[in-house]
Amino acid sequence: MPGASTSAALNRAVHRYRSAPVVDRLFVHGRAFLSDLAFVERFVPRKGFIVDLGCGHGLFACLLREASDTRRVLGIDLDAKKVAIGRVAIQDTQWLRFEIGDIVAQPPPKCDAVTIVDVLYLLSFADQERVLRNAASALGEGGPLIVKAQERRTDPRYAVTYAQEVVTVTLLGRTRGGRERFFFPTREEAFAMFTRSGFVMEVEEMPRRPYTDVIYLARKAPVRTPTAP
Ligand SMILES: C[S@@+](CC[C@H](N)C(=O)[O-])C[C@H]1O[C@@H](n2cnc3c(N)ncnc32)[C@H](O)[C@@H]1O
Repeated sequence: MPGASTSAALNRAVHRYRSAPVVDRLFVHGRAFLSDLAFVERFVPRKGFIVDLGCGHGLFACLLREASDTRRVLGIDLDAKKVAIGRVAIQDTQWLRFEIGDIVAQPPPKCDAVTIVDVLYLLSFADQERVLRNAASALGEGGPLIVKAQERRTDPRYAVTYAQEVVTVTLLGRTRGGRERFFFPTREEAFAMFTRSGFVMEVEEMPRRPYTDVIYLARKAPVRTPTAP
């Protein structure tokens, strides 16, 4: 369970969007209510330069900074409207920044940690792997990549996961990408993808969730140099 201070940080992060258009404000409140971002935050290093890929309106990036003032955070998203709203929310601080960008096409800048929250399922498996490889290129050896994702499983919660995305992405049209279908990997597929992208990874189950939510805690693996014959 997140502590009182993380919950307070989430409240402060949500409050940043108080002057956003009402639909976006509702969306941000919905993300705060449905996504348990406070649980994810605790796995992110307390200090350093953190890049949040697919940041959307930037709520998770704001939470990262509100929860620890020794973090500097850059959020990147394809959706210019969301980024514009995020920028209004962080006008008062120089420690948070949002940029428009395609996380499949461009690697992030060098950083101390990368976070990806509820984004990968919108991308084909090949593009998910590109994003992971891009993240690896930005991190030093042992550098952490924290990914919140959902797994494909024989589990009623997987039906709930899929149905919710059909509503928010396809019917409400609030999220870019994934219009035709979604790409939830099995645990084995996720392990293989992270390994091929240069990470070692463990899985943290998110408790008390109606979805198949997990957190992949990955670290950039040492680069193996070929030994002489
Ligand atoms: C479900 S939202 C999650 C947003 C945010 N991470 C959060 O937790 O609130 C998924 C986001 O991924 C972004 N996205 C999808 N494909 C992308 C791409 N190729 N490059 C950058 N952002 C992308 C979408 O624009 C959307 O804002």
